[in-house]
Amino acid sequence: MTRHNDQSDRDRFGTIAVGAADTETHPHRDGTNDVVPPIHLSTTFEWASGEDGNEHDYSRESNPTRAALEAQLARLEGGEHGLAFASGMAATSTTMLSLVPPEGHVVSSDTIYSGTEKLLTDHMAGHLDVDIDFVDARDPDNVADAVTAGTDLIWAETPSNPLIRLCDIQAIADIADDHDTPFGVDSTFASPYYQAPLELGADVVVHSTTKYLNGHSDSIGGAVITDDSEVSEQLAFAQRVGLGNMLSPFDCYLVARGIKTLPARMEHHEKNAMEVARFLERHERVASVHYPGLESHPQHELASEQMSGYSGMLSFEFDGTLIELEAFVEGLEVFTPGASLGGVESLVEVPSLMIPDEFSRSEASAEIPETLVRVSVGLEDADDLCEDLRTALP
Ligand SMILES: Cc1ncc(COP(=O)(O)O)c(C=O)c1O
Repeated sequence: MTRHNDQSDRDRFGTIAVGAADTETHPHRDGTNDVVPPIHLSTTFEWASGEDGNEHDYSRESNPTRAALEAQLARLEGGEHGLAFASGMAATSTTMLSLVPPEGHVVSSDTIYSGTEKLLTDHMAGHLDVDIDFVDARDPDNVADAVTAGTDLIWAETPSNPLIRLCDIQAIADIADDHDTPFGVDSTFASPYYQAPLELGADVVVHSTTKYLNGHSDSIGGAVITDDSEVSEQLAFAQRVGLGNMLSPFDCYLVARGIKTLPARMEHHEKNAMEVARFLERHERVASVHYPGLESHPQHELASEQMSGYSGMLSFEFDGTLIELEAFVEGLEVFTPGASLGGVESLVEVPSLMIPDEFSRSEASAEIPETLVRVSVGLEDADDLCEDLRTALP
């Protein structure tokens, strides 16, 4: 298995994230010597005659700030092509709509972000008659059993939201290869710092840049990275000519700025998450903790092999009533109850109480326990985080 950890570009991840010595993301240096790529707000660019013409004509199709971010995203994932979208869902839906025809077939892991699940069940199945098979992808044999010669896409989210389950990217990539089927991975929870699905054989990687890549809870965005030129062209055509769901120049700037501190933030997120996970594991009102960094996680070994770290996302099952759980959430002072994840501040989300849409899923997808609490561990002092939980838990 190729481990991201063993790669020389992995050793240079910090250098790549900062963007040093990178002429692609710093083309402007030729002109002004800016250290930070500027925000190009122009919607249109003066036409130039001649064979080469203009690099940019109209900002829906291409924009210098977006092009710099897209090159940076591709480098971070170790891929050839990067595309920046207006949201994680725009990245996922454009990938699915481009790769799966009406009446096509998708095999998806059964624990995925609720929005992706709704996209598959309501839009792909509901409007386009696409046949969706949700399978427990923790066992690659379940994926192999569901894939047929007519499957158009295999989709997996690992680690998954909110159950923090993993699937073996390389094993599923081998199945996808056997059937000549594209394999897409939503790697949002790991971020490019801790997981490199393309190196493990995936064809397409999707991120909600809203989360770790931007990292400061102030920009909604998404990314797709692939080595496959044909797929990249299909997606770029859908994005630029049809759907028009690209990331704005200002948001590109925010994501590019966030990326520079991604390695430092991820190390800190992971260190804090490990302390919070160990604290929760010892608490008598916590029935179970789902964190891939814990030896007790059933897929700890797989996590150690295919990820180079365990990231900052965990969930736990509260041992008590929903009323007690609500009181716990209201008693928190350092953690903020709220949706989203991957920012510098710690957040908790109880899907059954706070996000009814997330909680109500199709029967085919994995059940979410009513007292499940999802935790995005931020960058506060770990002692303060544990003390906040200790005080708020009954
Ligand atoms: C794993 C995962 N993928 C995709 C998305 C969708 O991203 P966005 O909210 O940026 O559209 C989310 C949002 O929470 C997510 O958690």
